Amino acid sequence: MVERKVAFITGASRGIGRAVAVAAASMDYDFFLTGRNESALEETVKVVRKAAAKAANDNDKSRFGCGEGPLIVLHTEDLSCPEAAERLFEAFSRSFDRLDLLVNNAGIVGAKPVGDYSPDDWEHIMNINARAPFFLMQYSIPLLKKADPGFIINIGSVVAHKGYENQALYSASKHALLGYTKATAREFKETNIRIHAINPGGVNTDLVKSVRPDIDTTDMISPEEIAETVKFLLRMKGNAMIDEISVRRRTKKPWD
Ligand SMILES: NC(=O)c1ccc[n+]([C@@H]2O[C@H](COP(=O)([O-])OP(=O)(O)OC[C@H]3O[C@@H](n4cnc5c(N)ncnc54)[C@H](OP(=O)(O)O)[C@@H]3O)[C@@H](O)[C@H]2O)c1
Repeated sequence: MVERKVAFITGASRGIGRAVAVAAASMDYDFFLTGRNESALEETVKVVRKAAAKAANDNDKSRFGCGEGPLIVLHTEDLSCPEAAERLFEAFSRSFDRLDLLVNNAGIVGAKPVGDYSPDDWEHIMNINARAPFFLMQYSIPLLKKADPGFIINIGSVVAHKGYENQALYSASKHALLGYTKATAREFKETNIRIHAINPGGVNTDLVKSVRPDIDTTDMISPEEIAETVKFLLRMKGNAMIDEISVRRRTKKPWD
């Protein structure tokens, strides 16, 4: 039987997080999947199991024992609470004693003029997009150091580098995420933890629809395309190292 690894993915109930879990299902991972919506997480479990079964069938039937599939543990937690990351990691540790991949993916967007944001908005967006990923990364590092290699993949955004109108807090949160991703990558350079940022432009998920219901989704990136970039990073285990992947819509201006 193949040695199984463990992936911890936040925001796995839909969108990019679900697509990443499905993509990783063919790579011998067991999963700790989080979000707030339990029934949506159950849907993710179904598609992950289907993808894992297909991969086992296509490749190597010895991946699982008879009738088995990946171990998938779900946990619901609202990351807007300051203590959420700690609770989440405690729950993770009750189920798993190893960790090979942390994907900090859960995120929300805000869309209003800078003058309209309240201190509560600041707390809410920053807690989900910046605070929780920071502490999940911190708590994960001791286990990831023992992995061969351990991966941290932080899903940022094009606004980690830019600032769009009406997205001041979203942009601030993604700048923060990228800032500490860079610092942590330097601090752990000599370990076998590989730390990456993926910074996409418009992806066709609920997040975009929530702020731009009018938007034409035909030229948007699919969540599966972002998941492919995650898979690509997970295959890189040699001397080449990629710090960041920026992904733009094909219809957007190159190098903008
Ligand atoms: N879509 C884009 O255009 C785009 C572009 C660049 C970067 N991104 C980034 O990609 C990541 C995933 O976004 P997406 O497009 O896949 O969005 P999505 O479809 O709206 O999914 C967001 C995920 O985050 C979880 N989440 C949201 N609020 C949460 C909270 N308070 N506590 C716990 N989990 C929470 C959601 O779970 P529940 O609903 O179960 O709570 C869901 O699984 C985000 O970090 C986003 O900033 C997206």
